[in-house]
Amino acid sequence: MTDALPDRYAVAGHPVEHSQSPFIHAEFARQTGQSIDYGRLLCPLDAFAATVRAFAADRSAGAVRGCNVTVPFKFEAFALAARRTPRAERAQAANTLRFDADEAGGWLADNTDGIGLVRDIERNAGVQLAGRRVLLIGAGGAAAGALGPLIEARPAALVVANRTLGKAEALVARHLDMATGVALSACTPAESGAGFDVVINATASSLQGAEIPVDAGVLAPGALALDMMYGPAARGFLAWAEVHGARGRDGLGMLVEQAAEAFFVWRGVQPDTSPVLAALRARLAAKAP
Ligand code: ATR
Repeated sequence: MTDALPDRYAVAGHPVEHSQSPFIHAEFARQTGQSIDYGRLLCPLDAFAATVRAFAADRSAGAVRGCNVTVPFKFEAFALAARRTPRAERAQAANTLRFDADEAGGWLADNTDGIGLVRDIERNAGVQLAGRRVLLIGAGGAAAGALGPLIEARPAALVVANRTLGKAEALVARHLDMATGVALSACTPAESGAGFDVVINATASSLQGAEIPVDAGVLAPGALALDMMYGPAARGFLAWAEVHGARGRDGLGMLVEQAAEAFFVWRGVQPDTSPVLAALRARLAAKAP
């Protein structure tokens, strides 16, 4: 029996009240016997850095060890850290900060979104990406986190389609050197082409209730069509996928997988994600209107 206080973590964002991360990390901690306390850190839009620094310096309870970072602060989180993992460097965005002591070189920024996406597609949805044709729609922070790990999964073709073409081109240019053997290209949504095995919506279109940014011809028969959103925000995209003969998947699995990788970065322990994903789906279904 130890009387040490739990190590503290939080999800930092704006908004954060609906974040499922506290539930997910509490489940991981229970499953693995780790002593952590994981809360929410609402950051004013103009005071992300100050709010996170104050949280990290708080000595009122257990030691503050790190935080997850969500919209709209992933770029700021990346800029704030002294050290960055290679995958955060590629993304130029971070969803995980580890508050290492200065002797260890200072705060570490990581990005676990992309590995979370790939694990959800390959392990949870059962679709191997190697040799497949993949369409990634969007070139903002969410897409940036996903691209490197998607390339590492070795699809035959990987197209990044974005409304603002220059952003897709810049993102692709930043990854070209790692894409040997993968046909990596950028285009506008209208020029995406047809017959993709996996289509990933990483735009904010679902959140805005806007039109699906691509033509249904992008979907190969039986394709996997994944929206990084979940809950009501993902419904339009999932319905569109089903109507056009694709298999729709929301972003809940990715959410749990990115959290598991962050938990590993902090605690050195890999939790079992499947019971947590099932519990989360049940919890959200019980709350759904
Ligand atoms: P996030 O961090 O969630 O990715 P972001 O960095 O603001 O947020 O990026 C939002 C992405 O959604 C961008 O790719 C954006 O396209 P632009 O780069 O052209 O702005 C895309 N997006 C937002 N609304 C969209 C819409 N209605 N249709 C298509 N793409 C949209």
